[in-house]
Parts: sequence; C-alpha cells; structure tokens
Amino acid sequence: MNFGVIGAGQMGGGIAQVAAQSGFDVLVQDVQQAFLDRGRATIEKSLAKLHEKGRLADAPDVVLGRIRFTMELQDFADSDLVVEAIVENEAVKAELFRTLGGIVKPSGILASNTSSIPITALASASGRPERFIGMHFMNPVPLMQLVEVIRGYQTSDETARIVTETAEQMGKTPLPCNDFPGFVSNRILMPMLNEAIQCVMEGVAEPEAIDGIMKLGMNHPMGPLTLADFIGLDTCLSIMEVLHRGLGDDKYRPSPLLRKMVQAGLLGRKSGQGFYTY
Ligand code: NAI
Repeated sequence: MNFGVIGAGQMGGGIAQVAAQSGFDVLVQDVQQAFLDRGRATIEKSLAKLHEKGRLADAPDVVLGRIRFTMELQDFADSDLVVEAIVENEAVKAELFRTLGGIVKPSGILASNTSSIPITALASASGRPERFIGMHFMNPVPLMQLVEVIRGYQTSDETARIVTETAEQMGKTPLPCNDFPGFVSNRILMPMLNEAIQCVMEGVAEPEAIDGIMKLGMNHPMGPLTLADFIGLDTCLSIMEVLHRGLGDDKYRPSPLLRKMVQAGLLGRKSGQGFYTY
C-alpha cells in the first residue's frame, strides 16, 4: 500500500512511523524542509527506543527506509490512502483537501486525523466524499491503541472497511463513530481538560494538586493539565471552539485562561512552557 501522510508534526510523524513499521511504503509531506528534518529525527529516536525494548520486528534502518519525505503535494498522485495531520484549522485543511482531491488518483482514499473539525465538510472540499473519512489516531501514535474511525455523511461502506482494515494492519484497534462535534473522544475528554484549566484560573488548586487528584483519585494515567500540555494548548483551544460552536452550550466555553495562554504562545510541551516547563 502507498501510504501518504501530510504534516510531519507530532501526529503526522507518529502515523508515518507506525505505517512504516507495518510494512507500508510511506510518503510524508510538510511545508518546510526544517519540519521534515525534525519529523525524521523524532521518528529515528522513537524507533531506536522501540528497538532497544525489543518491540520492533524490523531493524530501525529498514523501517526508516520505507519512509520518503517531500515538500511536493504532486508526489501523492499514486497514493492509496492519504492521512492529513496538519494544523487544526478548518479553512487550512479544506484548502489542502481541495488541492489533494485534484492530485490523488480517483481510487485513493483521503482521511483526516482532525480532533474535531467536521469530516463531512472536509469531505465536500475534497470532491470525493464517498472516499473520505476521519482516521483519528491518539498521541503518542506508536504507543496508543485506539483509532477512532469517523464516517462522514457520504462515506461509503467500502471506504470504512478499507480504513478499518488498514488500522488493524497497523496493530491498532479501530472503533467507529459518526460525524458530530468532537466525535466521541474529544467531546468527552476536552470539557474535562477545560474544567481543570478553569480550576487553575479560579485558584481551586495548584496544577500539581489538580493533576495528582485526578491521577490518584480517578486512576487516570496522566493528569488533565499534563495531558493538555502534551496535546498542545492551541489544539485544545481549537477543539473547545468547535465544541462550543457546534453544540451551542456554554458548558463548552473555552476557559479564558486557556485562551490567554495560547495568545501568549505558551502552547505546552511543543513550545517548552504550558502548565509546566519542559
Ligand atoms: P503539530 O503542530 O505538531 O504538527 C502540524 C504539522 O503540520 C507541522 O509540522 C506543520 O508544519 C504542518 N503543516 C501545517 N500546515 C500545513 C500544510 N498546509 N501542509 C503541510 N503541512 C502543514 O500538530 P499535531 O499535534 O501533530 O496535530 C496535527 C493534527 O492532529 C491536528 O488536526 C490535531 O487536531 C490532530 N490531533 C492531535 C493530537 C494531539 O494530541 N496533539 C491527537 C489527535 C489528533
């Protein structure tokens, strides 16, 4: 299978890595060589770690050899499946899918790893709504089991079947849902993270205490503020805005502190500072 990935950030890099580990030929695109280099370095590091732990079937070099990096969208003409993992912005994603729809061969499936943007809207932009789907991996992709498979309004049964089988070939567990704001995962998760941020803003407790209470008290493997930093506060804000707009209830209103931190460029782990320092 010719497996395409657009965006070499935390998610795109992880998706490319797992696809290559599964034996697919992978092509990764990003807008700057520096982003491709960074993505490649992250994949190399992750492969080395998995190899050390004996969790890699092939040698790291062999897996890396299956991944090609490019800045040209034209290179996706022969892709069987392209998964998009660029910035969480509907206009930017729609523009990309409009372009891709004219490049990828007609039988190729286009998928978005979006956390919250309507699959049906992106499907329309692509011009091939039957062969369009949401393929929502979790972070970090090499370690997390779930792929949320989101059917748009016109996604065909065959597209859903192929994408489900592909996720299984990648060693993941695909679970189906329909196209509603935030799907299942983020509709339930994000309001909890947002509420934890609101607790910081109101001075209910210090971040360490909030995370500790949720870890020890609810048996969560990671506290909500650590998780928000890990996801990226910009991404969290975008998702809350989609939930707020799409579901129209004030319980989804983004915390003003979340908004302020994003305005200040404090995006969590990827910027070095969020609720914690990295
Ligand atoms: P990121 O900021 O780490 O990476 C995004 C990458 O896309 C960057 O390398 C950027 O240069 C590139 N990019 C931006 N515009 C582009 C364009 N027009 N063409 C090609 N490349 C472009 O972001 P991250 O965290 O990897 O998120 C990507 C997507 O995955 C978002 O839609 C996000 O909502 C979703 N997602 C994120 C999760 C997380 O935990 N961070 C979990 C699941 C989904």
